[in-house]
Amino acid sequence: MMEHSLPNLEAVLLVGGLGTRLRPLTLDSPKHLLPTAGVPFLAHQLAQARSFGVRRIVFATSYKASMFEPVFGDGSALGLELVYMEEESPLGTGGAIRNAADALTCADDAPVLILNGDILSGHDVGAQVREHVSRQAAVTLHLTEVDDPTRFGCVPTDSTGRVTAFLEKTPNPVTNRINAGCYVFTRSVIDTIPAGEVVSVERQTFPGLIESGALVLGYADQAYWLDVGTPAAFVRGSADLVLGRLSSPALPGPVGESLLLPGADVSAEAKVDGGTTVAAGAVVEAGATVTGSVLLEGSVVASGATVVDSVVGKGARVRSGASVRDAVVGDRSVIGAGNELQAGIRIWPDVTLSDCSVRWSSDI
Ligand code: GTP
Repeated sequence: MMEHSLPNLEAVLLVGGLGTRLRPLTLDSPKHLLPTAGVPFLAHQLAQARSFGVRRIVFATSYKASMFEPVFGDGSALGLELVYMEEESPLGTGGAIRNAADALTCADDAPVLILNGDILSGHDVGAQVREHVSRQAAVTLHLTEVDDPTRFGCVPTDSTGRVTAFLEKTPNPVTNRINAGCYVFTRSVIDTIPAGEVVSVERQTFPGLIESGALVLGYADQAYWLDVGTPAAFVRGSADLVLGRLSSPALPGPVGESLLLPGADVSAEAKVDGGTTVAAGAVVEAGATVTGSVLLEGSVVASGATVVDSVVGKGARVRSGASVRDAVVGDRSVIGAGNELQAGIRIWPDVTLSDCSVRWSSDI
């Protein structure tokens, strides 16, 4: 992380979404608090924001709103001032920014950083903010380049960096640059979003600003970037942090093949690698293989079981001879011998798959 001086920069963190794509992990918790490389996901984003000079952050909460403050408090332990704003019902990304802005203290012409609370990014936020200020833009969007832009809306710019359109998903995208979920707004521009209404920045605010002739800039780069909104991306993000592919001041241990938290019980004869995190009270028995995965508190991977690119929920058990790949095992569920989970299958909490020989997949 680079240290930049952006004194008194305020930020709004969008953390009110339902996280439906991450169910069942988000049935009891906002996705933003899921243990990621050993700490709540947001701990990485907060530490990174601080390293870029942010000192005050307004949380825009809605889904499971009361769960954030007990974890992060007033932020003083992190060197931050944290404020919590709640929407009674979700107002969408734009409505949430408008609602949270009531808690901002900066001047009308000051830049405000807006962060989607489910993004891991190594980009230079300081450079994005400086570009915004020097060009006197209304909004400056971080844009990232993806291999397959057909899965996203795309964001073309002209040769000066001005965003020319905000295009929906299409089979023939005009650029591989997409909205990366980190914006700089000039404070007064937030007041143009209608208050108390459901508004999407992507579908309404940005296209509206472009149409009105306001300067919407793109800040494009190729730094590490990941939206952890799906189970596959979530495990990848956690593993990348453990492996050091993205550095985080909040990583609670050295970078390496695995992160074994205090109280994890991992046999010296088990293979645990690929950026796996093993939580307190979780057990990996001799002869088990766990790669690129997240084992939550109290889970057990038995001798001879295999877990790859997966989440094993709290207190869940993967029995000897079971194989779990690209899957989520809900809290307290049991995967009996012979079961093969694969291809994005998600097992809800408290389910027992008894010993048998069945392949469970989301693509059959
Ligand atoms: P899915 O339900 O899985 O589609 O995801 P999501 O709606 O939780 O997240 P999405 O990636 O669509 O949203 C981007 C960011 O905005 C995430 O950090 C969400 O928590 C946040 N967000 C989305 N909708 C709202 C909202 O209505 N209010 C607030 N405060 N935040 C929101």
